[in-house]
Amino acid sequence: MNFKSLRGMRDILPEEIRTWQFIEETAKKLLEIYNFKEIRTPILELSELFLRSIGEESDIVEKEMYLFEDKKGRKIALRPEGTASVVRAYIQNALFNHPFPQKFYYLGPMFRYERPQKGRYRQFHQIGVEVFGISTPSVEAELLCLLKDFFSILKIEGLSFEINSLGCKKCRPLYKENLNSYLKNKAPNLCSDCKRRLVKNPLRVLDCKVSECREALKDNPLIIDYLCEDCINHLENLKKELKILEIDYVINPKIVRGLDYYTGTVFEVTTNMLGSQNAVAAGGRYDELVQLLGGHPTPAAGFAIGMERLVEICKQTLILEPEKSLVYIAFAGRNEEKEAKRLVRLLRQKGIKTEAPYEYVSLKNQLKKADRLGVKWVLIVGEEELKKGKYRWKNMKESTEGEAGIEDILSMLEEIK
Ligand code: HAM
Repeated sequence: MNFKSLRGMRDILPEEIRTWQFIEETAKKLLEIYNFKEIRTPILELSELFLRSIGEESDIVEKEMYLFEDKKGRKIALRPEGTASVVRAYIQNALFNHPFPQKFYYLGPMFRYERPQKGRYRQFHQIGVEVFGISTPSVEAELLCLLKDFFSILKIEGLSFEINSLGCKKCRPLYKENLNSYLKNKAPNLCSDCKRRLVKNPLRVLDCKVSECREALKDNPLIIDYLCEDCINHLENLKKELKILEIDYVINPKIVRGLDYYTGTVFEVTTNMLGSQNAVAAGGRYDELVQLLGGHPTPAAGFAIGMERLVEICKQTLILEPEKSLVYIAFAGRNEEKEAKRLVRLLRQKGIKTEAPYEYVSLKNQLKKADRLGVKWVLIVGEEELKKGKYRWKNMKESTEGEAGIEDILSMLEEIK
């Protein structure tokens, strides 16, 4: 029987992994500079956590969660996103006892049972950040600035920063009323899910992906026209901060986000370098979630970057440094094998990438192998040289060779470290 990976789940092979590693290392360096600390939460959580935070009527919870019962009959989910888990960890570990703001970042796999296509997978990876404890728009400005700096280090161009406000407890009810009366007229044209959402959570109709629903929502009332004074001021102050930081943005009143927990500012970063799945990062403020999950009222905001989409772009923009060169150790006969093993270990301890045959074959075949591996330097442990305390070296690229003691060899190999 031939096994294949599950639909929508892919292997990331060594050839591609270098781009991943480069992005992850770059992100970690920048996040440390921005004073974020890494947090790692489990991949499995009680499904109730996501139900409560992302929202029962959201696509993610209704259709896309990987759910199962554990041996005790508890309902478990593979995390579809990171925010809810970080909030849970924040409350459970009383991280609110530390001075504000608390700034966390995470990297890892997320799971959503979506229809797979290019840029959309069932197991995908995010780099996410969450900031707790600050209610001013300086947080959103910092998050957008971080994204801009990160993407510019990765040499990504053609990005659009799109911002909206989803209002707060004060302004949303009036908006919902207006949206409801608009949607009532459209009800016959909506999909069956949205007919149900209409009663329970009309805001979720706004991000339905079904084409009839999209058509029905062409001229829906927009939350941005219903914002209260506080929300308007928040947005205006954010705009001022973005101006100071020289971050170009557009206000996109159509952004609603597919997760229930957002309040106030939301944003998406899109690129013209991908196909239809063009959102490379997204996030916003979620000032009510900590309390909703049992913590003290705590303002919070964050974002997540889609790694698969970012890698796809970086493959077009980044030129990675060549891999470290490999040194190949060959040995003339079985008597030299022990010394060859010692030499391999020594070079590795000195930080030199080294390989040697795992079992004896003729020297000719060892050199053929070295050639196939494309190595520049081969060191040969030979009887005559050993007697003089030396090794034979070959530079395969320049077709030169000679003998040298270990100290000279180490300084010769400095160039490839
Ligand atoms: P999200 O918009 O659901 O937000 O996901 C963030 C990013 O993850 C998307 O913009 C996209 O790049 C990537 N992504 C989402 N689904 C997939 C998929 N099926 N395949 C590949 N990439 C995908 C969140 O997850 C929020 N937790 C973000 C956040 C953090 N908000 C506040 N803090």
